[in-house]
Amino acid sequence: EHDDLTTHFESTIARDQRIEPRDWMPEGYRQTLIRQIAQHAHSEIIGMQPEGNWLTRAPSLRRKAILTAKVQDEAGHGLYLYSAAETLGADRAELTDKLIAGKQKYSSIFNYPTLSFADVGTIGWLVDGAAICNQVPLCRSSFGPYGRAMIRVCKEESFHQRQGYELLTTMMRGTDAQRAMVQESVNRFWWPALMMFGPPDDQSPNTEQSMAWGIKRHTNDELRQKFVDMSVPQAQVLGVTFPDPDLVWNPDRGHYDFGEPDWSEFMDVVKGNGAMNFERIAVRREAHENGQWVRDAALAFAAREEQETN
Ligand code: ACO
Repeated sequence: EHDDLTTHFESTIARDQRIEPRDWMPEGYRQTLIRQIAQHAHSEIIGMQPEGNWLTRAPSLRRKAILTAKVQDEAGHGLYLYSAAETLGADRAELTDKLIAGKQKYSSIFNYPTLSFADVGTIGWLVDGAAICNQVPLCRSSFGPYGRAMIRVCKEESFHQRQGYELLTTMMRGTDAQRAMVQESVNRFWWPALMMFGPPDDQSPNTEQSMAWGIKRHTNDELRQKFVDMSVPQAQVLGVTFPDPDLVWNPDRGHYDFGEPDWSEFMDVVKGNGAMNFERIAVRREAHENGQWVRDAALAFAAREEQETN
């Protein structure tokens, strides 16, 4: 019987059809998905912090309303993704505990500080831009609930990207000081944005198997190249440059060549030593502890309801 199940799983993948929660799946497939989806969910939740930092200091009511909507969207994405992880048998409370204990990862990008309001625009343009580049192909991920979740997430990310680019466009039409603020922000975020796609393919332990299972549809380097190619013309329209002397169009390849990100910095940030790692987790832990009474109240209420209906 096990052979039949394996054959069924493999032929479903080979036909490029979807695996659903009740289908049999190899344990490695399940664990890989839980790992990736949990990291993705944690990233959305931790990702609320760098921009949330500017909510109280947004320069106008309009900017504040946009930013509030955006940060709330990220919370929604996180909850949506935790639900997808639950369809694989993961326990949401356990995932949060692992995040707070530093046992599960979240995206390196959120361990960099947001030093100016231009960072809100740059994060929208480059960070959410990179997220879209990575997540649009995940709409075709072989696991049904993950792929379907990505459709809505990508639509909202697209709004996030646009609001960021529009913000930067407005600043670039402003004063010299505002233009300088945008360029300084782009200088800080360019390399970390490239690192979001993960280590180079020859140092990525998970890519090959995840591609074979249809969990990932492109390698890390393929997506990084795609992101560079789409970002350069956008930078030209905006009037900013990227801090990479090796960034140049290569007519033979039909792509931009670009320099090597500092992978030792990446490893350091992933290991927990980035500028903001400690604070991000501390804030998350505090929020979790402050929410204990809400969880307790919800459980007490559910228990009482249960008693009354019995
Ligand atoms: N930040 C932190 N950790 C990372 C990053 C990153 N930018 N990139 C890779 N890693 C980790 C991987 O999670 C993996 O760790 P693990 O094996 O201990 O779990 C390790 O580095 C090796 O990397 P890969 O073998 O390349 O891992 P994987 O195949 O999972 O690819 C990737 C990484 C591309 C991030 C993939 O997991 C993915 O597409 N995830 C979904 C998208 C996502 O999580 N986005 C979050 C940021 S976007 C946003 O929220 C706005």
